[in-house]
Amino acid sequence: MTATPRRLRKAVLPVAGLGTRVLPGTKTTPKELLNVVDRPILSYIVEEAREAGIEHIVFVTGRAKQAIEDYFDHQVELEAQLQAKGKTDILDALNADLARPGEMSFTRQMQPKGLGHAVWCAKDIIGDEPFAVILPDVIVDAAPGALKQLAQVYAQVGGNVIGVEAVPEAETHKYGIVDPDARDGRRITMKGMVEKPAQGTAPSNLSISGRYILQPEIFDILETQERGAGGEIQLTDAMARLMTRQTFTAFEYEGVTHDCGDKIGLLRANVALALKRPDLGEAARAALTALL
Ligand code: G1P
Repeated sequence: MTATPRRLRKAVLPVAGLGTRVLPGTKTTPKELLNVVDRPILSYIVEEAREAGIEHIVFVTGRAKQAIEDYFDHQVELEAQLQAKGKTDILDALNADLARPGEMSFTRQMQPKGLGHAVWCAKDIIGDEPFAVILPDVIVDAAPGALKQLAQVYAQVGGNVIGVEAVPEAETHKYGIVDPDARDGRRITMKGMVEKPAQGTAPSNLSISGRYILQPEIFDILETQERGAGGEIQLTDAMARLMTRQTFTAFEYEGVTHDCGDKIGLLRANVALALKRPDLGEAARAALTALL
């Protein structure tokens, strides 16, 4: 690609999912607001988006997700109380997560028709420009963050870039899986991709792990995308169709991926990120050692 890729400014965060794998905790709390150590999952995700240069975030929400919008707004009484008590470090943490003026939009996916349909719901807010999709179930512990790594690749090669990570063969049926062609370091060109391949049929063990940079032409394709795996409109199927017209690069980013939509994944994220915290690591290690 010779032309400079168009600048990446926007991201879609699909947050309409019910969080069934971590019920009943997600009965009244959106799964994206569950704490990992002392911050909601979305706090990590928004931080990752901003680090990658994202200026506008589109949340595709659903019923019972109003708390997400509230999380990014002021809580005047709480802030006043913290101020009065001189708890400025906590106030600073709260302020870091506030939406910047005009930074966030919220739209609803009114029926659970799948990830492809959720992304399509953001089409008018995204408009005619490249955009990122970040699946907020997944925290990637990485420096620079996973989306920034993808954005760096995108700035060089343009087109569409998707984050992948190797998973055990026995788990490939849970993910979108890429069919690799050639590899150059962490960059992989692809022949295709398939959503949730049946056991034993996956073309590789490289899973599409929840970070994408896509061109807006995906919206026209999603418009006519038929239901696929699980009876849902799948983003992977639409990307596979777009691949016949545009370039796709898979990038095996550096970092540790935590699936926070899963009981053990959420536990692991809490433990791993607590152990890494300068203020908590030592105490967390002592507590875990005593437990084990
Ligand atoms: C979605 C995507 C899938 C991807 C996965 C990553 O599936 O459809 O391609 O590999 O997220 O977590 P879901 O987990 O929503 O079934």
